[in-house]
Amino acid sequence: MFGYGSLIWRPDIPHSRARPARLEGWSRRFWQGSHDHRGLPHAPGRVVTLIEEVDAVCHGIAYLVERDAATALEDLDYREKNGYRRRDVELAIGTDSTLGIAYIAPRDNHAYLGPAPLDQIATQILESTGPSGTNRDYLYRLGDALRQLDADDAHVFELEALVRKRDPDGHQLQC
Ligand code: SIN
Repeated sequence: MFGYGSLIWRPDIPHSRARPARLEGWSRRFWQGSHDHRGLPHAPGRVVTLIEEVDAVCHGIAYLVERDAATALEDLDYREKNGYRRRDVELAIGTDSTLGIAYIAPRDNHAYLGPAPLDQIATQILESTGPSGTNRDYLYRLGDALRQLDADDAHVFELEALVRKRDPDGHQLQC
């Protein structure tokens, strides 16, 4: 199972191993609406999905799910129900590659918001909150997790800098 968003810092699935992994040919974008976790039905937040892009690399975590895989998938299907679909992907782990599953929200899903100027995405994230917490918290956790992985992601880091600068609670980036 490949996690590239909240599944990086809150997998909540029983797994026997977790390793940094890469998905080549995909980029992570805050283009998916969140009506159930980081926003509300009338005021969606924004969370990440993956977009196919030649030469792009998305860094995340690969989890080895050996026990209760069927239950884990059922739980994840429920958690990722707002537009995500399971997709078979080829993961790069170190110098090896292996087949895995990722939850990707395709362009034709009902909650897809698509691209927008980064400043506009930052405003939406600053203003959104839902049952799982603030949209800012999702972005900051993702930024922190990617730094821990030593992974580069200009889209996430630029957005994080914009949001932190305007955060009324003053969550500045500590460097
Ligand atoms: C994932 O984390 O892999 C899927 C997107 C999300 O739940 O944030």
